[in-house]
Amino acid sequence: MRGVKVSLFGFGNVGKAVARVLLEKERFFRERYGIALKVVSVADTSGVVWLPEGIDLQEVLLVKETFGKLSAWTNDYEVYNFTPEEAVEDIDADIVIDVTNDRNAWGWHLAALREGKAVVTSNKPPLAFHYAELVGEAEKRDVPYLFEATVMAGTPVIGILRENLLGDTVRRIEAVLNATTTFILSRMEQGRTFEEALKEAQSLGIAERDPSGDVLGIDAGYKATILHCVAFGPITFREAMVKGIDGISQEKVKEARSRDRTVRLVAVVEKGKVIVEPREVSLDSPLAVESHENAAVIKTDLLGELAIKGAGAGLKETASGVVSDVIKAALRIA
Ligand code: HSE
Repeated sequence: MRGVKVSLFGFGNVGKAVARVLLEKERFFRERYGIALKVVSVADTSGVVWLPEGIDLQEVLLVKETFGKLSAWTNDYEVYNFTPEEAVEDIDADIVIDVTNDRNAWGWHLAALREGKAVVTSNKPPLAFHYAELVGEAEKRDVPYLFEATVMAGTPVIGILRENLLGDTVRRIEAVLNATTTFILSRMEQGRTFEEALKEAQSLGIAERDPSGDVLGIDAGYKATILHCVAFGPITFREAMVKGIDGISQEKVKEARSRDRTVRLVAVVEKGKVIVEPREVSLDSPLAVESHENAAVIKTDLLGELAIKGAGAGLKETASGVVSDVIKAALRIA
């Protein structure tokens, strides 16, 4: 049995979902992969709990649920005030998980890679702005840098592009990458107002804390930029052309539906080009997704057209992508 030490950064809804999977499937991971994952630190915005012997995940989840913040937990554990940079440098871990919303996390991702630690992330801005540096550093040091959950949650579109189709040249990707906008548009088709639909998406936990990034197309733009980086090479979000669904009226979506079409926030990715904008798609297109689904249609020279569809948001759905990457990194380390 190989022990693998993990540092978890971010203990909001996604972080808690990741911790729950690590707790509940610990035995499955031991039996199936011969790997014993040990969480040695957990960080939220209030502080860092660190125990080299391994943290009791049941207890840390209970503390977070009860008190709302880790800094309240002073009985059994030390709570440190490390910056993320200090934490990745000082805490002895094999894998650093970033499930925060820290826009500046690329700096501490680089610090972790320089320390020889694998990084697994669901946090999009570091990749949408600094892909070349991060992946370049990881390759130089031969350390895993894995980011499946940044795009389409656990639906493995990154895996397809990064680890399969290696002999293919990708020509074009068309995708629906944001669940909140799909949810709002389909509710508007059913007669709800934009505001009512947005409120519902927020109450279901699909929308980001600040939903303007979803509505204005920024979240989809980050994801489309990441797909470009993987399929065609580095580009940054600054080069993406992004339009959101804020100008779309209920009349327009209803009228499209009457013609067997539906309005979705579509990303088109080609070499050197990233476009995100509302477009009409036919109801029989793979892009005519509903609810929290995402879809991508990948066109390549050899395989032709490949469509992948699945959950693009949700807590256990995002944890699926994060944990899969953690196991991939652990197997490489082991
Ligand atoms: N707010 C995002 C969405 C969550 O609606 O798709 C997943 O990144």
